Amino acid sequence: MASGLLVDIHTHVYLPRYAALLRARSAVPFISSTVTPNGKLDERLLILDHEPSGGRPVGPQYWDREEKLKFMDKHGIDVSPSPTVDSLKDSTSSANPWLDFLSASQARTLATQLNEDLEEHCFTSPTLQDILPIKRLYGFGLLPLVPGISTASLVDTVKQISQLPHLRGLIMGTRGVGKGLDDQALDPVWAATEEAGLVVFIHPHYGVDAKAWGEKDNGHVLPLALGFPFETTIATARLILSGVLDRYPSLRLLLAHSGGALPQLSSRLASCIDHDPVVASRLKHDARYYLGKLYLDAVAYGPEELGFVSDVIARSGRYEGGSFTPMAVDRSLGSQRMLFGTDHPFFPPLSLTEKWKSVVENLEAIDAVEGWSQADRDGVRGGNAVSLFNLSR
Ligand code: URA
Ligand code: ZN
Repeated sequence: MASGLLVDIHTHVYLPRYAALLRARSAVPFISSTVTPNGKLDERLLILDHEPSGGRPVGPQYWDREEKLKFMDKHGIDVSPSPTVDSLKDSTSSANPWLDFLSASQARTLATQLNEDLEEHCFTSPTLQDILPIKRLYGFGLLPLVPGISTASLVDTVKQISQLPHLRGLIMGTRGVGKGLDDQALDPVWAATEEAGLVVFIHPHYGVDAKAWGEKDNGHVLPLALGFPFETTIATARLILSGVLDRYPSLRLLLAHSGGALPQLSSRLASCIDHDPVVASRLKHDARYYLGKLYLDAVAYGPEELGFVSDVIARSGRYEGGSFTPMAVDRSLGSQRMLFGTDHPFFPPLSLTEKWKSVVENLEAIDAVEGWSQADRDGVRGGNAVSLFNLSR
């Protein structure tokens, strides 16, 4: 029997100010509106460069807090931190593509406004009465991460987020200020974020070159199932290779979709580093060590994947420094860096069902991981999020 809080750390919200901006645009990213022959408004979200199938139908579940709370209630979710496009019990964050398409001055103004909007959205959300007297929604703020932005603006926005009490982290894509997350220009951002104790949620948007998907119409399957996680994999590998985690060892990074393919490829990454004269002595530790310094969501949909990821996290200690220390891999220890998420409002069921398969499948996967105790499962369901986001204060 599960006990304790169920916290959704991966949920998105397109705040009304952001949705209005997308409606006013006619190029990607935008929201298109048409009226159907029977007089209904048909709104669609077009955010990918080669958006398949005319975009995704959107409605109040993308921007209306009542809809988020109803969804949470239906699935027994106590809290969500949203990336401003999301919700803690729900940690809510803003959704992709964030502010990537704006000029530096527009992005700066909008980041400040959306962070205030998200604080209000969370602060005025209901309080969870029974288990812990905390809000049902917390958020991840946004930085104006666009080319040409000044370092001072980015650092000021980290400070703004750290002063908004219901924002417990920030969400970012993989482009940084145009050169990716291994860009040395981001060092002041990592330093300020580490100092503020904010969690950085790294979330994909661009996938990989669309030519890789061929000519068949496979809907959104390949960009979402493969392109998104590959993007996260590449961005995080670059970040590790650039030494960010050596320079900022207390930086708390949370990776979307269980880190994509990074856990599976981490030994190969380590071996390629060891055999490459350009990087062989650049890092303080074997690449596998850094996997254990990350936090990964549990949005992987299968118990075998969750178990494997927890092993990869747990074996980190074997690779501290340059040498290998034989020690048992403690899967329970690995579970302590994994956190339940839903990706709401994405992945709704195709036919009317009481609960969303995308949510139920992730909860069932957590329950079925071999070698996780009930305490481990409760941790992944919510306890780890309470600690990581300091929700009890
Ligand atoms: N599709 C998106 O565009 N974003 C997500 O986070 C999930 C699915
Ligand atoms: Zn997401």
